[in-house]
Amino acid sequence: MAHIMGFGGYTPERIVTNDDWAQLVDTTDEWITQRTGIKRRRVAADDESTMTMAVAAAESVLEDSGLVPDDIDEIILATDTPEMMTPDTSALVQHQLGCRNIPTYDLAGSGCAGFVQAVDVARSRIAVDPKKVLVIGVELISRMISPKDRNTAVLFGDAAGAVIMGPEPARAEVLNVVSGTDGGNAEILTLAAGGTRNPFNEVTLANGDYNRLVMDGRKVFVEAVRRMSEASVEVLRRIGKSVSDVALVIPHQANLRIIEAVRKRMGLDEDKFFVNIQEYGNTGSATVPLAMWEAVNNDRIQKGDLVVLTAFGAGFHWAAAAVQF
Ligand code: UT7
Repeated sequence: MAHIMGFGGYTPERIVTNDDWAQLVDTTDEWITQRTGIKRRRVAADDESTMTMAVAAAESVLEDSGLVPDDIDEIILATDTPEMMTPDTSALVQHQLGCRNIPTYDLAGSGCAGFVQAVDVARSRIAVDPKKVLVIGVELISRMISPKDRNTAVLFGDAAGAVIMGPEPARAEVLNVVSGTDGGNAEILTLAAGGTRNPFNEVTLANGDYNRLVMDGRKVFVEAVRRMSEASVEVLRRIGKSVSDVALVIPHQANLRIIEAVRKRMGLDEDKFFVNIQEYGNTGSATVPLAMWEAVNNDRIQKGDLVVLTAFGAGFHWAAAAVQF
């Protein structure tokens, strides 16, 4: 039994609009709005980092849960944009937050599916050892991809979201999670920079390869729609429910057209899907916890509601969780 005790999030103050991007690269507000639904995104300040954003989201969820850092028994942090190659960001968060010497680890590189996968890992950790797990999804993508590449730069934003999970009945129960991976599609969406295939050196610097996000957007689009809708239906089937039982779906926010296609495949009305992509763009593994935090704060979720979280990202990885409030 894994329960969610509280919800938290953090978004940087600086707002970059589509018109701001149009001053920098060959794009327009109209193109970005029509193709993606994004109107603006948040960008971290120079004195912020993946760790500081994760800590801000952690402080937010601790307050929401009525807990202190001492209460946390484990941290799982999902990110594709870590503070450093090593050590992982979760270690830095553990210290900065003032936690005990608890175990922490990053779930790194699983793209935008990272947070929902981390919820699944936390669920199994709690099943073997009843503990309180801080689960964070954080992304500082603006610093990792080329600001000159209009194909990718305009799509992303920086943010963090978090939950605390524990064994005792609390505000919501994670009933089941379906997840999967298709590494056969790994090359469709990559950020190779800094890895052993493409280490940082003079050559990658000269080639501009140090921040090149390579993405076949159309293939990602098609697979994202299929996997997120199928995983959502499957997780409902596993708990003996159907889409008509769902009060709200919180999908990964990568593209409004992807979200719409998932919604239509599931046969649900617009009000059953939570959308905030217009404000934040694609914030990777932070989209789902950030959206869930907003949905709770904006009273989009009531006690008794069955909520589905669904996400898809590089790997390809995907995951869907059924959460009973
Ligand atoms: O979170 C998981 C990771 N990512 C995703 O889920 C992204 C999934 N894919 C998508 O969201 C969409 O495929 C995109 C938003 C990336 C692209 O939309 P699309 O409708 O699939 O456009 P496209 O790839 O077919 O490109 C259409 C045109 C191209 O020009 P040509 O080749 O037709 O002349 C692009 O060069 O749009 C051009 N283009 C742009 N034009 C203006 C690409 N980016 C821009 C831009 N502004 N920012």
